[in-house]
Amino acid sequence: MTDKKLYSLTAIFDKPDDIIHAAEKVSGSGYTKYDVNTPYPVHGLDGAMKLPPSKLGYAALALGLSGTLAGVLMIYFMSVLDYPIVIGGKPFFALPAFIPIMFEITVLAAAVGTVVTMLFFFFKFPNNNHPLHDTEYMKQVSLDKYGVSIQADDPKFNEEEIKTMFTGLGAASVSPVYWNLDEVNHENKILDPKFLGLLALTAIIVSGTVYVSLNKLMFMTPFNWMMEQERANPQETSTFFFDGFGMRPPVEGTIARGDLPYQFRDKPEMAAELLANPLIASTENFELGKTKYNIYCSPCHGYFGEGDSRMNGQFPNPPSLHSQKLRDWTDGRIYHVIQVGQNVMPSYSSQMSNNEKWATILYIRALQRSLNAKESDL
Ligand code: HEC
Repeated sequence: MTDKKLYSLTAIFDKPDDIIHAAEKVSGSGYTKYDVNTPYPVHGLDGAMKLPPSKLGYAALALGLSGTLAGVLMIYFMSVLDYPIVIGGKPFFALPAFIPIMFEITVLAAAVGTVVTMLFFFFKFPNNNHPLHDTEYMKQVSLDKYGVSIQADDPKFNEEEIKTMFTGLGAASVSPVYWNLDEVNHENKILDPKFLGLLALTAIIVSGTVYVSLNKLMFMTPFNWMMEQERANPQETSTFFFDGFGMRPPVEGTIARGDLPYQFRDKPEMAAELLANPLIASTENFELGKTKYNIYCSPCHGYFGEGDSRMNGQFPNPPSLHSQKLRDWTDGRIYHVIQVGQNVMPSYSSQMSNNEKWATILYIRALQRSLNAKESDL
């Protein structure tokens, strides 16, 4: 018996009224280190034991508020600093829109944090031993009895006094509880390498399982990316159309947006007769024509249309634009050459807009006049 260390004296009562009475008496006698165990919550017991309100509420408040703060900072970082997107014209920091998330994080932090606080600070997890565990006393108060246990380290502890008090209160039995010697010198097991190893192993297994199952076993594309859709790239063959061509001609009778088909491809005479320059001879149009002429036409025709090609030797020199033939041509006839080309001269229909073509013709007319001015032009 000498190597046993007393933990507490316990008393078992049969009726809930008795335990309330006993609790009042024990707390009234000035004991502080004691506990009452009942198989179910007995009304009025808190009051009888003169228990102060639990401090867990303060922890929950602090954790909840830090959750709110973390929520605000998180959304602030996301929506204002890291990835600001204008949504419906709202400011980046739009508090009303953030409230649901702040609320959720508050609840999450408070709930999880409170449980963790309770486990680690109140229950001293992972230390899961208690001298009362696995005792006859604990078995009885877990079934249908009510018990009170006064610890030996209570300043007022006196075995004889307590025994008399318990019997006086009508206890069915009074018995001592001893420390399990292995546990007397127990240390905080949080830093126990085995416990830390177990935590790490759990984390690795859980995250590994989640990773493998979500990314390998049951991976699904959230939706079909646009780049993965069924389509034919330019010049690609297609198995969809019977002729095997991926590129389709426009549907008959339709024209592409912004595209006016040229109607006089093989009919220069009709172009000469029916097309007229829509532009007026304004400075602006001349300037535009000059710019475009210098870019597109001057390499071969020369800056003044004299056929003095800068590509001399590499490309046949064109005839002069000042010939009587050209001066007699209508604007529509020159337009036709720009549009479809002439012999070795390529078509410029796709490089220049319609406006630019007509402006260039205005400029060519001005060039022609500059060399063959009539008296009336002066
Ligand atoms: C790559 C050189 C080259 C460029 C650039 C070029 N031409 Fe020509 N052009 C020629 C040649 C060569 C001919 C003569 C074709 C032939 O043999 O009928 C010609 C002929 C012409 C004719 C008919 C002349 C005639 O007497 O039959 C006109 C009008 C004309 N070009 C206007 C233009 C205009 C306007 C541009 C600018 C949009 C232009 N060309 C750009 C090489 C060019």
